Amino acid sequence: MSAFPLNDNAGRATLVGAGPGDPELLTLRAVKAIQGADAILYDALIDPAILDYARPGCRRIDVGKRCGRHAMQQSAINALIVKLAGTGKHVVRLKGGDPFVFGRGGEELDTLRAAGVPVEVVPGVTAACAAAASLQIPLTHRETARSLHFVTGHGADGEVPAHDWRALAASGGTIAAYMAGKTVRKVAASLIEAGLPASTPAVAVENASRPQQAAYHATLGTLADVLDAEQPSGPTLIVIGKVVALARIVEESKRLAA
Ligand SMILES: C[S@@+](CC[C@H](N)C(=O)[O-])C[C@H]1O[C@@H](n2cnc3c(N)ncnc32)[C@H](O)[C@@H]1O
Repeated sequence: MSAFPLNDNAGRATLVGAGPGDPELLTLRAVKAIQGADAILYDALIDPAILDYARPGCRRIDVGKRCGRHAMQQSAINALIVKLAGTGKHVVRLKGGDPFVFGRGGEELDTLRAAGVPVEVVPGVTAACAAAASLQIPLTHRETARSLHFVTGHGADGEVPAHDWRALAASGGTIAAYMAGKTVRKVAASLIEAGLPASTPAVAVENASRPQQAAYHATLGTLADVLDAEQPSGPTLIVIGKVVALARIVEESKRLAA
């Protein structure tokens, strides 16, 4: 149920998770928000077919960022949402995956609250869940993985953040690393140095849920070399942990490195 009255003429914003790419992974609530939007600010990971749910008069604004190139600064995005909502529009901020998983949704929320703009959040399927589902990897497993850790391989300064690698290695859980395609060598080395065996199964899933999805199977010790050889160019999610060994190895899996 929407948090807002149906006939409210005041401007408002909805942060909508668009999922990992496949339009079929949108939630019904996301579709409803898109259909009701006067303006949609969408980022680079959004499948164009998802925008087809918008009504003809809806303004579609590409604020996408890709590979470190910022089509629009985050501060400008925040200001634009506030400005449009200030003119009575229903603004949808359409974001890849889930808005609150490495999506800067928190920053947009802060700005909107500070500006007094009513805001609602629609969750989306995050990349780790989509990648795991497509390969049939249970991210948690009663016997094998009792915790799940979402980490980023790319901090605000472009470096690998100073995670507590020992705690991650000792957890025995599954690690899902976002934005780690370029930093995988350092991420893997840090985990191995912290005590996680180099033989731990690992997989990189490129373009999860999209027609061009590819999966690169390896171990923690070999994944960086596999990715150096394969050079994935699409968004890539890395899953590390014993549960990866449960994956269904499908035809599009590019490599199985021991
Ligand atoms: C800025 S983060 C956004 C994450 C997003 N909010 C989510 O919940 O999935 C971008 C990173 O998410 C991951 N990602 C997003 N979509 C993906 C996809 N379809 N396949 C694989 N990884 C994806 C990649 O690690 C990418 O570098």
